[in-house]
Amino acid sequence: MGIKKNNTRAFCLKILYKILHKNVFFSDALIKYQNEFDEFNDNDKKYIYQLVVTLIRRLGYIEKIINLYLEKPIRNPEIKIVLQIGVAQIIYLRTPNYASVNQTVGIIRPKLKTFKPLVNAILRKVINNQKDYIHIINSTDHMLPAWILNKWKRNYGNETTELIIKSILSEPYLDISIDFSQTKIFKKFNAKLLPNGSIRLRKHNKISSLPMYKEGNWWVQDAAATIPANLLLNRINNNRKKKLVIDACAAPGGKSIQLLRSGLNVFSIDHDKKRIETMVKNFNRMNLKHNIINTNFLNWEPTNLDISAILLDAPCSGTGTFRRNPDIIWHRKKSDIMKLSEIQMELLEHSFKILKVGGTVVYTVCSIEPEEGINIAKKILNLPNIKLSKITSEEIPKLKESITNEGFVQILPHYWSEFGGLDGFFIARFEKK
Ligand SMILES: C[S@@+](CC[C@H](N)C(=O)[O-])C[C@H]1O[C@@H](n2cnc3c(N)ncnc32)[C@H](O)[C@@H]1O
Repeated sequence: MGIKKNNTRAFCLKILYKILHKNVFFSDALIKYQNEFDEFNDNDKKYIYQLVVTLIRRLGYIEKIINLYLEKPIRNPEIKIVLQIGVAQIIYLRTPNYASVNQTVGIIRPKLKTFKPLVNAILRKVINNQKDYIHIINSTDHMLPAWILNKWKRNYGNETTELIIKSILSEPYLDISIDFSQTKIFKKFNAKLLPNGSIRLRKHNKISSLPMYKEGNWWVQDAAATIPANLLLNRINNNRKKKLVIDACAAPGGKSIQLLRSGLNVFSIDHDKKRIETMVKNFNRMNLKHNIINTNFLNWEPTNLDISAILLDAPCSGTGTFRRNPDIIWHRKKSDIMKLSEIQMELLEHSFKILKVGGTVVYTVCSIEPEEGINIAKKILNLPNIKLSKITSEEIPKLKESITNEGFVQILPHYWSEFGGLDGFFIARFEKK
């Protein structure tokens, strides 16, 4: 797309085109245009991030509002996004109206200039007719595609679905995993200590400019994401240096870092080269010695290895992380869930194949879909050599409501609302008989 340089809105258009029209993730779209992004100053970068993320998070609302003023649908994907950029600024970013209209119309390329009057007129209608759409803004029904909304309502009921949606409509906080003795370095950031020992920053500068980042004193990890590795560690209390643990789907390495710092001998496996590069950077920053294996875990059949435990953080739909990654909302398809659950089952079966008798498997996904969580866990228990290692409420502070009757964990994003919510995760722990 030949769009002029150093214009924040024009840059957003380019990124959003990739995300919404080419199914590229936000982080990958940013990598593609990294050099151009680096030319913006910090304030502009912040604005770009905010505009893109707000637009994606509120896309369902924005589309509905635009449709009120269209006589027939707009087919041109670029113009659709230009309009969305304008509406996101008017309604959600509180950009002054003249800038929302004039500067947005200004990013329309000469080739598409016939659309300028239409975009101008619609944005002005949005500015002048709030009462037409206030009911849309105030409803929780427009955040998600219908198939996800209806699925959640079926699985969790209307009330819980509403609570989940309200919790994921807001920006996520930054959670940091750090030794308790070090938390004082974040004192001036008004950091909150969470029940699991993470600290949460409500407002922060660039991550790499936070104190002791380069020294590797801490790493970024959602509070809920710390729980699976802790549940595994609860089963390996002695002689950790001599115990071999496999992190089967490890990159970018958050959970491996937890395991390595506890003194275990860890093999971190992942099949994705790019994600492994990020993992190596993370391990190096944290000064951790590591064993990384770049392979498909399903084909990894070690001989003569005494594997005490496997952490399987399987690839999943990510529906528990919509708040952090709103782009997933629009990329997921209904059919993905069944495909992913087949892969998850294969990965779990393979874990038991290579694990020693008496060893532990912790299975986890950052999803709130039963097909990827509880159904998988129940199905694997039908195999003869596997028994459940029930998770107790003492192991996960202040998350009692997440423990299922069976002894699995299903965290929903609106739990810990008093601290500002957390990512949704399913976790089950098993032992090989
Ligand atoms: C949910 S992410 C893991 C996040 C990671 N555990 C952490 O805490 O930072 C899932 C990972 O599984 C990897 N993966 C998916 N299928 C795999 C396979 N068959 N073998 C190895 N890695 C796989 C993906 O590349 C991805 O990095």
